[in-house]
Amino acid sequence: MTLFSYVEFCLYEALDDMTNFQRTYSIGEVEIDGAAIYHTTGLRERRDHCTLFGCTREPTGFDTNRDVFVGVHNGLQEAAVPLAGRAFNSVAHGWNPVGSHQLDLRLEPGEEETFAFVLALLEQPGPTVDRAAGHALLARYAEPGAVWTAFDALRERWRVLLDGLQVDCPDTLVRRMLNTWNQSQVIATFNLSRSASLWESGIGRGMGFRDSNQDLLGCVHLVPERARQRLLDLAATQLSDGTCFHQYQPLTKKGNAEIGGGFNDDQLWLVVSTCAYIKETGDASILAEPVGYADVPGSRDDLLHHLETSIAFTLANRGKHGLPLIGHADWNDCLNLNCFSTDPDESFQTAGDVEGSRAESAMIAGLFLYAARELARLYTHLDRPEDEARLLAAYDEMLAAVEAEAWDGAWYLRAFDAAGSPVGSHVCDEGRIFVESQAWCVLGGAGAENGRARRALESVQELLAKEDGVVLVQPAYTRYHPELGEITSYPPGYKENGGVFCHTNPWITLCWCLLGEGDRALDSYLAICPATRESRIETYRSEPYAFAQMIAGPDAATPGEAKNSWLTGTAAWALVALSQGILGIRPDYGGLRVDPCIPPGWDSFHVTRRFRGVVYEIGVRNPRHVSGGVHGLTVDGREVFGNLVPAGAVGSVVHVDVELGG
Ligand code: GLC
Ligand code: GLC
Repeated sequence: MTLFSYVEFCLYEALDDMTNFQRTYSIGEVEIDGAAIYHTTGLRERRDHCTLFGCTREPTGFDTNRDVFVGVHNGLQEAAVPLAGRAFNSVAHGWNPVGSHQLDLRLEPGEEETFAFVLALLEQPGPTVDRAAGHALLARYAEPGAVWTAFDALRERWRVLLDGLQVDCPDTLVRRMLNTWNQSQVIATFNLSRSASLWESGIGRGMGFRDSNQDLLGCVHLVPERARQRLLDLAATQLSDGTCFHQYQPLTKKGNAEIGGGFNDDQLWLVVSTCAYIKETGDASILAEPVGYADVPGSRDDLLHHLETSIAFTLANRGKHGLPLIGHADWNDCLNLNCFSTDPDESFQTAGDVEGSRAESAMIAGLFLYAARELARLYTHLDRPEDEARLLAAYDEMLAAVEAEAWDGAWYLRAFDAAGSPVGSHVCDEGRIFVESQAWCVLGGAGAENGRARRALESVQELLAKEDGVVLVQPAYTRYHPELGEITSYPPGYKENGGVFCHTNPWITLCWCLLGEGDRALDSYLAICPATRESRIETYRSEPYAFAQMIAGPDAATPGEAKNSWLTGTAAWALVALSQGILGIRPDYGGLRVDPCIPPGWDSFHVTRRFRGVVYEIGVRNPRHVSGGVHGLTVDGREVFGNLVPAGAVGSVVHVDVELGG
C-alpha cells in the first residue's frame, strides 16, 4: 500500500495570501529534512516562526509543489501523485507550497503499524530552520503511545473543565447539550468571537464588542481568569465618550473601524458581563483595574469608570420619547434607522450618518433597565448606597419612559424611526411586532407590576413562536424600506427579517422563567435546540449539536434550514437560560442561588456546580410537582432560610438538598 499525506500551507500573511498573488506567488519557500517538511516562507527575512509537517515514519518520497502534486490539469479528486502512485520529490519555489509524504507500507493480514503525522508551528530563534528542534518534536511523537497520551491529556483537560457544571435530569437532550455540547460551544464562541472561521471567513471580522461580552456570560464559570482578561481587553476598546469599537482584531487587540460603529447598545453589555464575572468569581478587585480609553493615549481610568461611562452615554443620548437613541443600530445590526441607503454596493453597516438623528430604541431602553439594575445591585454589594440610589433613580426614569411611550397595547414597540414613526407597532403594515423589545423590556423589569410583561410574552407566543422557534419579527418585510435599512434587504423569513434568529430565543426562555412558566421555558429551550433536529436533519442541514445563528422562518422558501452554526451568541444565552433560568443555579454576590423554573412534570434533578473553588452537589426534589419556589433547603444537612447557598470552604464538596413547593 502506498500512502500519501497532504496539507496546503497558508503564507502567514492571511489577507495577502488571499488577494495579492502578484507578490505571494513569488515568496513561497520550503526546506526538506527527511520526514520533516518545513514551510519557511519569510523566515530568512523577518518571520520568527515556520511550520513543520512531519511524519514519525521514514517516507520514501515527498512533494511540496502543489502543481506537481495535483497536476496542472487535474483536481484534488484525481491528483497526479496518487494517480502515478509515486512522489516526484518536488521542491516548491513560490506558487502554493504544500506538504506531502509518500509512505510504502507492507502489512500482512491482521498486521498493524502505528505512526503519526505532526503539524506544528515552530518558533525560530534565527533566520535558518532549527532542524534539531523539529527532530526532537518528531522523536517525541514517535515514542510508542505518545500521540494517544497527548489525546488523553486533551480529553482529561476537557473533562475537568466540563465537570464544573453537570446535570442529571429527566430530559436526555438537556443532559447531552448542557453537559457536553453547549459547554464546548461556549468555549468556541469565547475563543473566536466573530473572527476568522467558517462563516466569518477571511480576516475582516474580529472580536465583537457586544458579542464577546455576551459570549463571556456562558463560560465565565469555565474560564474565569481568561474572562477577566477579556473584560479588560474589551474595555480598552471603549472610547471616552462611552461608545465602542464594534469589533477589535484578536491578535493586535486594536479596534477595527472598518466594519462600522455607533451601535448604541454596545457599551451596556460591558456592565452586564462585568457584573456576571464578579458574581461568579467574587473578585470585585477587577473594578479597580486600570484600563484606558481607546481614544485617550495613556489614560488609566479603572474598569468601574468604564461602566459608569457606559451608563452615562445612554442617559445623555435619549430622544424625544425619553428612550435611548439607536445610533447606527442596536443589538439588531440590521435595524439601520439612519442609513437611507440607495447604493446597492455600500454596506448597511457603515452607510449613513447618524449625526443629529432622533431615532430611538426600546430594546436599548430595556437593556439599560437591566444594566442599570445590575450596577445598582453591584453597588449594594459594595456598600455604596448613594451610588445605588443614583442608579435606581436612573432606572425609574427609564422605566417610566418605557411604560409611557413604548407600550403598544399588547406588546412593546421596537423603536421610533428617524421621522418619529413607531417601528414594531400594530399601526405598521409589516414588521408589527419584534421579539427583542419584548425580551429586554421584560428582562429589565418593565411590565412586572402592571401585567404587561405577561401580556407581551403572550403576544410573543401567539404571533412569533413557530415550530422552529421564535421568529424575530412578524409580518416579515416584503419590500425594501430605506428608513429601516438592512433588515428589509433580506428575503422574508431569513436572518433578522423574520428568521428564527436563535440568539433571541433564550432571552424568551428567561422571560418565561421570570413568569414562573416551567413548561413554556423548557419548550422554548428545546424549540431551537440542535439536538432535537436529528430526525429532521435533511431539512435542518446543520450540526445537530451546535447552536446555529439562524433557522429560516416559516416565511422563507426553505423553512427549518439552519445557517451560521457555532459562532453565535445563542450558545452562551442558551447555557445561561438552561442552567440559571430553568435549573435555576445562579451565581450571586453572596453565594450560589437556587431558584429553578422546571416543568412541573419533573420529579427531581441533580446539578454538580463548581463555584469559587467549591464543588456543590445540588439535589432538587419536586414532590408537589410545581415549576419553582423553594420550600426547604439544607446545606450539608443544616437548614438554610431562603434560596441562597452561602459560600463553602475552598476545596470542599458541599451537599445541597432542595425541596420545591413554594
Ligand atoms: C450577529 C452579530 C450580533 C448581532 C446579531 C443581530 O449575530 O454577531 O452582534 O447582535 O447578528 O443582528
Ligand atoms: C449582517 C448580518 C447580521 C450581522 C451583521 C454584522 O448584517 O445580517 O446578523 O450582525 O452583518 O456584520
